[in-house]
Amino acid sequence: MRNPTAVITGGASGLGEAAAKRLSADGYDIVLLDVDDQGGARVLAEIEATGRNAKYYHCDVGDPATVEQIALAVERDLGNVEVLVTSAGLTPNSEAILEMDMEAHERMWRINYFGTIHSCQSFARLMVPRRRGAIVTLGSIHSRLPMPLPAYNPGKAAIERITQLLAVELGRFDIRVNSVGPTHVMTPPLEAAIATGERDMSKIMEVHALSYIPSTEDVANAIAFLCSEEARAITGVLLPVDSGSLAGISYKTYAGGMPWSE
Ligand SMILES: NC(=O)c1ccc[n+]([C@@H]2O[C@H](COP(=O)([O-])OP(=O)(O)OC[C@H]3O[C@@H](n4cnc5c(N)ncnc54)[C@H](O)[C@@H]3O)[C@@H](O)[C@H]2O)c1
Repeated sequence: MRNPTAVITGGASGLGEAAAKRLSADGYDIVLLDVDDQGGARVLAEIEATGRNAKYYHCDVGDPATVEQIALAVERDLGNVEVLVTSAGLTPNSEAILEMDMEAHERMWRINYFGTIHSCQSFARLMVPRRRGAIVTLGSIHSRLPMPLPAYNPGKAAIERITQLLAVELGRFDIRVNSVGPTHVMTPPLEAAIATGERDMSKIMEVHALSYIPSTEDVANAIAFLCSEEARAITGVLLPVDSGSLAGISYKTYAGGMPWSE
């Protein structure tokens, strides 16, 4: 009996890396897809050092022909793809729409949004004949609220919607499709943005209900839950992993002030 296979796009870093390690510990053989070969080799070695099976493929998720070709290679090399997590993505900084760099805008959509669709198409096609699978897309608190990242933000809203559409389309094959919606999580892009002053940690901390922001492992736990049998009746949802950010943002910035002083 082969282990089931979990494919993680963007698995060479951040949330994809944490999801890969968690799913590996849960018994999946892991396929990492990324363009960061060095990061991919590092995560691969760390998973293999635990005695688990993993494979890395260089794959630009924005290129549908490449994704399709890699999906066929994964089917040939490991088979049994039961899980897909689409974590490949770019994280930009604030920008005004009237001044935005349209090439960067297109690149963002090509990777974050179309990369999600290409990955879902190619790997769901492998799941359909087996009538078994769980897909988790990477949404965000950006899926729900306007924020001044004019390519990233509407792209995340679109990812929530395509997740719902896929959930309905694939539900008849017993394939579930959900999304996680993290708030700020300390991964390399956020670390870099804080270092250059593009994100303000004290502002981030002010708007959450909890005085704690999620770790990469917290997001990986939510992804693992959505992939598990325990979530067998859950499809088409975006599960916020946000320390109460979506609840807290308008409440904590309410013009009437907070009804407590500490
Ligand atoms: N970290 C956060 O605060 C946060 C919050 C909400 C949502 N997210 C989402 O989580 C996902 C992962 O973000 P992260 O913070 O872990 O970032 P990260 O940079 O640590 O990881 C993203 C990975 O995607 C890879 N990648 C980039 N372009 C690619 C391409 N064309 N093809 C394949 N792989 C590619 C990168 O090489 C990198 O390994 C993104 O979709 C991001 O929008 C992150």
